[in-house]
Amino acid sequence: MLRRLHPDQPDGFAFSPANLAWAEAQITKYPEGRQASAIIPLLWRAQEQEGWLTRPAIEAVAEMLDLAYIRALEVASFYFMFQLQPVGSVAHIQICGTTSCMICGAEDLVAVCREKIAPKPHQLSADGTMSWEEVECLGACANAPMAQIGKDYYEDLTAERFAEMLDELAAGKVPTPGSQIGRFASEPASGLTSLKEFDSGHTKYNASVQLAADIGDTIKRIDGTEVPLITPWQGKAANADGKPSAAAKPAAAAPADATGVVKQAAQAQSTAKPPSASDPVDEQEPAMLSAARSDGADDLKLLKGVGPKLEQTLNALGVYHFDQIADWTEAEVAWVDTRLKFKGRIERDGWIDQARTLADGGETEFSKAKQKGGKTEQ
Ligand code: FES
Repeated sequence: MLRRLHPDQPDGFAFSPANLAWAEAQITKYPEGRQASAIIPLLWRAQEQEGWLTRPAIEAVAEMLDLAYIRALEVASFYFMFQLQPVGSVAHIQICGTTSCMICGAEDLVAVCREKIAPKPHQLSADGTMSWEEVECLGACANAPMAQIGKDYYEDLTAERFAEMLDELAAGKVPTPGSQIGRFASEPASGLTSLKEFDSGHTKYNASVQLAADIGDTIKRIDGTEVPLITPWQGKAANADGKPSAAAKPAAAAPADATGVVKQAAQAQSTAKPPSASDPVDEQEPAMLSAARSDGADDLKLLKGVGPKLEQTLNALGVYHFDQIADWTEAEVAWVDTRLKFKGRIERDGWIDQARTLADGGETEFSKAKQKGGKTEQ
């Protein structure tokens, strides 16, 4: 299915203060230079705030993570979890239409949606409270047919039960997620054939359904007031002002947490001395230019790790040519580093070595691939 931006977009987007604090805390989950990995939680939070993912929201998240807009749009347009158009104010229904569900009656569920919500997917119901779409396999095939509503799965659906559920939602109720024919989990629909003693000993709901019932956020949007969730990976709540605690951000070149030593970070530490607070490097501004030389600026995007946004930033600082970067000293790297959004990337991506090669008219593996228009990993 074609997923593209909605033609009508709001003028702007800004995270609420609570959501901004949460988003900044999410970024601290990742080691320095890897903050782009926070894109999915940040896009998700933006969607939770607005109801759907607007273009200004995608761009705002891209800017927070120092990504080109297209990189953020690629993520937003890939996953069904991101809604690129307005959805129902009460619920957006995602019907799985893949093989198991299709064989077991997904088309009947779609017919209910057409009748009760709107004739076409992604159309709002007349009162604006509901919308629907068909999606690919949601991984609950053993309990087909199924639908995701908000954050939870509804399984073993029949057209009749599904129609009832829509009526319940319209009446302000939230049907209990999970199997709608009383299955505990994915055991045989005709009853257990082994481990029968389990049948009488289990709880009313399986853990997923129980959690959904306990949290009660199936169709509730996260609104930023969930303060204790701000830094769960550190076992700390936010400060009283809703901001992450001062210790939330990992130190430069340090692992994100005690268990989170990524391979790259571990290798970097074994081969290079990481900067630390006790070992500060004096900063010194490199020689900058007010404009590119007469033969034009170099394409700094040929450096692995430099995208369009970083190139703009470098140009704004007065860096236009590979030979400028090739000559940077440690102190000059430190000066530039502090003016980039995420420190450490100059060293991480080896800009100096790359720039020396390119300034001498040579090529790097990355620049070769980039110039060929092949796939490159920034
Ligand atoms: S086919 Fe529907 S959940 Fe897998």
